[in-house]
Order: sequence, then C-alpha cells, then structure tokens
Amino acid sequence: MNRTNIIAGNWKMNMTLDEGKALATEIVKQATDNGVKAIIAPPYYLLESVRQIIGNSKHVFLAAQNCHQEAAGAYTGEISVNMLKSVGVDYIIIGHSERRNYFDETNKMLTKKVNLALQAGLDVIFCCGESLTIREDNAHVQHVKRQLRESLFHLYENEFSRIVIAYEPIWAIGTGEVATPLQAQEMHAEIRKIVSNNYDDRIAQATTILYGGSCKPSNAEALFAKPDVDGGLIGGASLKAEDFLKLLEMRAAK
Ligand code: 13P
Repeated sequence: MNRTNIIAGNWKMNMTLDEGKALATEIVKQATDNGVKAIIAPPYYLLESVRQIIGNSKHVFLAAQNCHQEAAGAYTGEISVNMLKSVGVDYIIIGHSERRNYFDETNKMLTKKVNLALQAGLDVIFCCGESLTIREDNAHVQHVKRQLRESLFHLYENEFSRIVIAYEPIWAIGTGEVATPLQAQEMHAEIRKIVSNNYDDRIAQATTILYGGSCKPSNAEALFAKPDVDGGLIGGASLKAEDFLKLLEMRAAK
C-alpha cells in the first residue's frame, strides 16, 4: 500500500518564540529521510520562523492549526488562507474538535475553510471524531460519517486526494486515555469504507488516516501496527523533540 505515512505535531497554544524555534530546530536537525512525513503545526505567530528553520527540507513540512473561513476583509484578529500561503505553509489543520467545541465551528463553516485552502493550493488535515456521550450511545460511526459528508464530500476526486483525515476521539484528547488499537483500527476501517462508498475503493485506499488522542511513544507501537492507521496527529507528545522524533522512527519501523 503506498499511502503517505505522516506524524504531525499540533503544538496547540503552546511555545513562546524562543521555545518554539528551539523545538523546531531540534526536530529539523534530527529528523531523517525515513519515508515518513513530519509535519509541524505551531501557533500562527511562529509559522514564519519555523518556515525558515525547515527551509526546503524534503521530509519536514509546515502546517497551520486553523484559518478563517472568509478570504479577506474586516475580521479583526483573524488569519486568512492567503496569509498562510504567503508564509509558506504546506497544510492547514481544519475542524479540530477544540475549534468545533470552543469556537463553535460548524460542518458548514469547515466546508468554506476546506474550499479556500484547496483553492490556494494548500493541503488539508481534516479532523473528525466523537465525544464520549456519542460513543456511549454507539453513534460514533454515524457522527463521523456526517462530519465527513457535510464538510468534504462535495469535493471532486482530485481535490479529495489532497485531504488527510485525522480521527481524534474527543474523549482521548489530552486525557491520557488513548483509544485501544482495536477501537482505532475499527474506526479507521469505517472511515475508509465511508470514503470508498462516496468515492471509490482506489481513493479510499490512497487516503491517509491519522489517529490522534493521547498518542505517545509508550502506546504508539500497537496503534501504528494496525493496517488502517497511517500515522498520528500528536498534541502533548509533539512538544518534546525526543518524543516526536521517536514517533517518527516508530512509524518508519512499521
Ligand atoms: P493529545 O496528543 O495531547 O491528546 O492531543 C491530540 C490532538 O488533539 C492533536 O491534534
């Protein structure tokens, strides 16, 4: 299977200027060309500095954690896709559950963000995932299906091929409670089936699906061993160069 393997680090609202530059420098210096894409997603204000540090590396890439859903204009405090493009961002994370929950981002709003990113030539890491209540109601597959359908399935095949999906069960984010490898595999296989039903199997097999939620070196081996888990979207463990680099190695060894 020739899917792209990715380990992406979502730094969230962490790292001062000096800390962020030091972390990025360490990652870029030590990341090897092992066939796994490393993606770093620092806060907005660090993007330009981290771009300089990454330079034209062939295996470390830069992501923004969000973008605004309008192209430009009177939106005080917001950052547009074109601004992100102008600093050399490669990917935009769209639809993280923290954005959905704390900033009321809806599936419809996310559609606009996805469209703007793709039109600007940037690739997308699209997050989906259910809350604990939804999982307890056994409605998680339906919930994720709806998230994908309402924000992504209007895309043409060639556009959809630029989407990386990140499955992040909300109950596992920052809680230390990681999904079991079986839960992750089941959900990733469901997502692949949903993509296949909407597009076709060739596209589904080529889609990179990352797992996110308390993933760290001590639990990643069993997760990465699952056939439909193509890497991780990492929060806490991406803030330590050693852990992030270890996850890259572990993915490559798979
Ligand atoms: P944690 O790895 O800290 O649980 O965060 C996961 C996440 O939300 C990545 O986007």
